[in-house]
Amino acid sequence: MPVPEESTGTGTGNGNGTGAGTEHRVSRKAVLRAAAALGAAPLLIGAPVALARERTAPGGAPLVPTPECHDGDGPTVEQTEGPYFKPDSPLRNSLITSGTPGTRLTVTGYVFGRACRPVPGVLLDFWQADDNGAYDNSGYAFRGHQFSTAQGAFSLTTIVPGLYPGRTRHLHVKLQAPGRRVVTTQLYFPGEPRNGTDSLFDGRLLMNVRQAGPGLEGTFDFVLDVAQDPTTPPTTPPPTTPPTTPPTGAWTPGRAYRAGDGVTYAGVAYRCVQAHTAVTGWEPPNVPALWQRL
Ligand SMILES: [Fe+2]
Repeated sequence: MPVPEESTGTGTGNGNGTGAGTEHRVSRKAVLRAAAALGAAPLLIGAPVALARERTAPGGAPLVPTPECHDGDGPTVEQTEGPYFKPDSPLRNSLITSGTPGTRLTVTGYVFGRACRPVPGVLLDFWQADDNGAYDNSGYAFRGHQFSTAQGAFSLTTIVPGLYPGRTRHLHVKLQAPGRRVVTTQLYFPGEPRNGTDSLFDGRLLMNVRQAGPGLEGTFDFVLDVAQDPTTPPTTPPPTTPPTTPPTGAWTPGRAYRAGDGVTYAGVAYRCVQAHTAVTGWEPPNVPALWQRL
């Protein structure tokens, strides 16, 4: 049953607070996100959010995405877990079935450490309200945990959480890198009217969100306070791809793909997560390190 106690909780590790009025010390990224939150991007009414990462260079080529943790941000802001967390959630990255009511939502991104290297094996435990704004406190509906991939990536398939009294729309998540402490936070949606009145809302935790057919696609990159050796080259290109672009054609051996490119293979859509040249044997379903099924 929805209760408003989360709205009276206090975030932790947020420095000057969690409200929308704390933009004076936040980064360019957060400013862009805050602008979206204030209505520059009318989420949920059909128009996609304009993302800086989607800009194109002269000639139409997409700009190389910038890892978000190169944008001047410190570790991801922490927030209260609220009253509805339950341990022992199921291992799964989809919280829905075909019959689940609600607007479909996918959230993808990466987990980075302090040197902007991806962190594999991070436990991400998500929980959220259902389409009616209610949490399942007797079972495990809309609760699930997963581990970041070898590339530090995560992917959540769910619905847009419903609203409940005292809060703006949000997702809850706990993250724990191997051997590290648990980090608890929440993710927010741009364009939500209640973002301006929810005392817990923090623009630094806004996802990039855009319309994708009848559903929404969001991205967010977490940064954990995990020491990393900056002199060791990353083994994979770390930037999160922008929200999905429509498939651009059938997968073709010999073709060079960039992160974010879309293809179809055997009637299934995939998104390239790591730049490479396609070769026979690296068909999208065979190499999850290169292709994410959509
Ligand atoms: Fe909540």
